[in-house]
Amino acid sequence: MSDPIRRIAICTGGGDAPGLNAVIRAAAIAAMARGWEVYGIHDGFNGIFFPERYADGGVSRLTREKVRGIAHLGGTVLGTTNKGNPLHFPLKMPDGTVREVDRSDEILEFFAKRELDALISIGGDGSLTIANALAMKGLRVVGVPKTIDNDLDKTFTTFGFDTANAFATECLDRLHSTAESHQRVMVVEVMGRYAGWIALHAGIAGGAHAILIPELPFDLEKVAAKVRSRERQGRLYTLVVVAEGANPKDGVRTVAAAAEVGHQERLGGIGEHVAKVLQERTGKDARCVVLGHLLRGGSPTTFDRLSALRFGAAAVRALEDKQSGIMVALANTGVNYVPLAEVAGRMRCVPLDGDTLQTGRDLGICFGD
Ligand code: F6P
Repeated sequence: MSDPIRRIAICTGGGDAPGLNAVIRAAAIAAMARGWEVYGIHDGFNGIFFPERYADGGVSRLTREKVRGIAHLGGTVLGTTNKGNPLHFPLKMPDGTVREVDRSDEILEFFAKRELDALISIGGDGSLTIANALAMKGLRVVGVPKTIDNDLDKTFTTFGFDTANAFATECLDRLHSTAESHQRVMVVEVMGRYAGWIALHAGIAGGAHAILIPELPFDLEKVAAKVRSRERQGRLYTLVVVAEGANPKDGVRTVAAAAEVGHQERLGGIGEHVAKVLQERTGKDARCVVLGHLLRGGSPTTFDRLSALRFGAAAVRALEDKQSGIMVALANTGVNYVPLAEVAGRMRCVPLDGDTLQTGRDLGICFGD
């Protein structure tokens, strides 16, 4: 662990988020400035597991040229996957069934064989849990928190969240006029998995009249009452933002696809349900718009881009300081480092006593609770 670093690898895992390329660029440039060689692993760890799939062998040298002009680009130049968790890797058996295997030792063997001294793993809860497992097995690892969902613990925020919010807010701004012109109820479903950060933040910023989040199981009669009360005041349209993971008080989450070996369940569909029930209960025309993967695209906002660049450079400084098994985090005072073990497998939900939720209530927004 205390040997000087000569070669590092970078990988991006889980769903993509605006800012990934900025981390890659900053980490690569900061590492090269220290005389280290930098390698990029394709598609999470697939570049290691399936070298035959890649023209460059799955893990290739990142040069200054390869990271030039990428900080403002969405996605990840390394590619990513949310299906290749090495700790629970789906292996197809000869009889067609799929079995889960732990392939993490292959990663350590690869690092030893290629004389790679450390890994910068950029990802969300899944990737950071993997990073923690690899660190516990002796690999020198620094994690960088990424997700549009903002549901990671121990960091003030994750990059990708601000960009997703900015886009969702712009969509809400645009929906006000069409909803008002047609006197409709417009339901906007946003991503966020089991946390309501995007729905809450974009919903308040975008002037939604009702916001439904997983942290507050909802009663649609309360939302219908809000629509009727607006109607009585002459406000003939209503905007409702619903997080994909929100669920009714007496019901369950809406799942678009069940979990498979190596892949979590896929959420989605609650927006259509909310629109249908509100139409039935209020007699008003209702429409649903699902923002879905649009929230993951586009150029990172200045905030996300800068956080990502700071995270990438801070990850390299941490490795230089011989740190491992930690995640770069954003605190009020600047970047800091927290043990991966304190982040792995934990989820940060919207606090019910937080001032943002309270702001929504003070503005008269209905939360369906
Ligand atoms: O974690 C990011 C995220 O976009 C979630 O908000 C969403 O539930 C999920 O990923 C969607 O994953 P997929 O890309 O597999 O559809």
